[in-house]
Amino acid sequence: MLIRPRRNRTSAAIRGLVQETHLNTGHLVQPVFLAQGTNIRSEVASLPGTFRFSPELALEEIEACMKLGLRSFILFPAVADAHKDKTATYSYDPDNFYLQTAREIKRRFPECCLISDVAMDPYSADGHDGLVRGGKIVNDETLPILAKMAVAQAEAGFDLIGPSDMMDGRVEAIRTALDHAGFTDTGIMAYTAKYASAFYGPFRDALDSAPRDDEGIPKDKKTYQMNPANQREALIEASLDTAEGADFLMVKPALHYLDVISLLKHQFDLPIAAYHVSGECAMLLAASRNGWLDFEKAMPETLLSIRRAGADVIITYFAKAFAERGGSL
Ligand code: PBG
Repeated sequence: MLIRPRRNRTSAAIRGLVQETHLNTGHLVQPVFLAQGTNIRSEVASLPGTFRFSPELALEEIEACMKLGLRSFILFPAVADAHKDKTATYSYDPDNFYLQTAREIKRRFPECCLISDVAMDPYSADGHDGLVRGGKIVNDETLPILAKMAVAQAEAGFDLIGPSDMMDGRVEAIRTALDHAGFTDTGIMAYTAKYASAFYGPFRDALDSAPRDDEGIPKDKKTYQMNPANQREALIEASLDTAEGADFLMVKPALHYLDVISLLKHQFDLPIAAYHVSGECAMLLAASRNGWLDFEKAMPETLLSIRRAGADVIITYFAKAFAERGGSL
């Protein structure tokens, strides 16, 4: 036998020499859920180990992550019903607790990378990412709301704006508004191929942001998020986001869409981000808690697989856990 692939697996040192994919904390983004108030640290029931933090405790959490070498964070607000309305006005109120907390984080940790979320759903009485009118999600009237939200976030100091709403033309609307307001250095991490997935459940529990069960409100997000059956359609979205000025292209979810990550990585030159979403993390936690999987092995293998598919950046609820376990593979 002339060729024996096992020779390159003989020792840990040789395996290290031939390892093709690497992962370290510099590739990871830790999501942080914010709640209004003080002294709040409430665990998300469907995502054990993930908490909604009041601002002062979120700062402590971010400090702990920074000490572990994690520098990038994506923030999401759990907004009280009293602040929700049809047009998500609270989302661009400069005094809202989300923007105030972002300002404080950037004041305390100017070296971190802070990523926002742009979509109406956490602030919307309807629980949709866009404006609901006559039982439909109206695209073009949503764009100015998203643009206002993005400018308010840039003013608060976010480094990257993260449109997750999937309205057509949002990246251009946001880029133009940011530039007019003087935020030419604020980047856009576009949720490019975001699928209408069943794996966002724990996230919607965390923020109470699911589409509301009222008459006249569509029950799902299928008219704007992509059909899980489609791969080629992601190329259309990626071309548009690139042309409209995005700085990162994101695929979401990650694990069930590794083919899409790989496709965009090969076809586009922008960095690729993958969102390892709440339900994908919850599956692994549930199996581990049952003793069916070894979290210590399955978690790093999962993150490495997303990197191998082509993700430059991984947003994952396991970022801190990975950093705590040494933070490099
Ligand atoms: C809001 C948004 C969602 C997620 C990120 N931003 C939920 C949704 O689109 O319904 C999901 C993230 C996760 O499940 O971890 N538009």
